[in-house]
Amino acid sequence: MYIKSLEIADYRNYARARVDFCEGLNVLLGGNAQGKTNLLEAVCLSSVGRSPRTPRDKELINWRASRAKVKIEVQKRAGSETVELIIDRTQNKSVLVNGMPISRMGELMGVLSSVFFLPDEIKIVGGGPGERRAFMDIALCQMSRSYFYLLQRYNKTLSQRNRLLKSGGFTADALDVWDAQLVDSGAKIIKTRKGYLERLGGYAAKNHEFLTGGAETLDLTYEGVGGAELSEIAEAFAADLKRGRERDIALGYTHPGPQKDDVCIKIGQTDARSYGSQGQKRTAALAVKLAELDLNAAEKDDMPVLLLDDVLSELDVPRRQKLLQRTAGVQTVLTCTHIDDSFKDLSGYKIFSVSGGRVE
Ligand SMILES: Nc1ncnc2c1ncn2[C@@H]1O[C@H](COP(=O)(O)OP(=O)(O)OP(=O)(O)O)[C@@H](O)[C@H]1O
Ligand SMILES: [Mg+2]
Repeated sequence: MYIKSLEIADYRNYARARVDFCEGLNVLLGGNAQGKTNLLEAVCLSSVGRSPRTPRDKELINWRASRAKVKIEVQKRAGSETVELIIDRTQNKSVLVNGMPISRMGELMGVLSSVFFLPDEIKIVGGGPGERRAFMDIALCQMSRSYFYLLQRYNKTLSQRNRLLKSGGFTADALDVWDAQLVDSGAKIIKTRKGYLERLGGYAAKNHEFLTGGAETLDLTYEGVGGAELSEIAEAFAADLKRGRERDIALGYTHPGPQKDDVCIKIGQTDARSYGSQGQKRTAALAVKLAELDLNAAEKDDMPVLLLDDVLSELDVPRRQKLLQRTAGVQTVLTCTHIDDSFKDLSGYKIFSVSGGRVE
């Protein structure tokens, strides 16, 4: 799929802007603080319904305005679709797909699929376990709406169980009921994540080899509740809950489960999460993101769009060139502050100059 156009009004430092993207590489070029990332952010927002930079939607509204609008037109194999978002200071955010308001965020998933890489994406490797879980969940939600609803169901059950633990007003039987429900949706989440990581891991290793010229190997494994088959995972999760119940009661929240699990990322024999160098973490994170693209290419009819914010400045020239080669065949929107030698072998890209909240 590819984005045909993006229109924004009163969004961040923009009053009004329209960008007509090409199917290939689109470069948003401009100095610092001109509005490059803001444009990419608007694309991410249209894709997953929230900004990758802030959980507070109101920050997206231009300081002088009371509501922001974003509209995107996507061309897919099956035809074109539109996504519109309206963020108001006093009302809930509204989302329209093909002109119709949606009632559940899940309906937005997959309309515009994207793989994004922002400067702090390095946190997939170097950040806490929550960053790695969020990475898997965002990718999986885009690939499958049922996963989105499964996650919602699990989180609801989890917060109900936690509320019960905190209140202290429960019987062992009541907890058993909540545990059974947690295990039911939780085991499915874990099974889906494990399967995803297994498939992603192969592509991530290949991309890593490509980016490093084969100097280092990358390995991803799920860390947390054990088991391979759904029934084994359910059994292991139920046992973990049982074993941890006293502790859960004492501390007032649920310890084991998908909300605690992690992904182990190894470069060679080293745990990159704790011991990777800055460059190693960045390259590993990029390999993982490119793997997300490969996996979509293999399993989905439509390729997602690739959004790269400021990645070039962090890479050396050979890695930069390698990354740009990889964008062939995928609509890519890339921000940078200058065009250098790494672009010299590329053809047919479109440059947008971004300055003071204007795009030309
Ligand atoms: N809600 C808002 N209303 C008005 N301006 C805003 C709002 N939110 C952010 N800005 C401004 O938008 C400007 C551009 O931000 P953006 O992150 O897009 O810059 P950039 O071009 O990506 O720069 P860099 O190269 O430094 O990453 C910033 O100066 C910021 O202060
Ligand atoms: Mg920026």
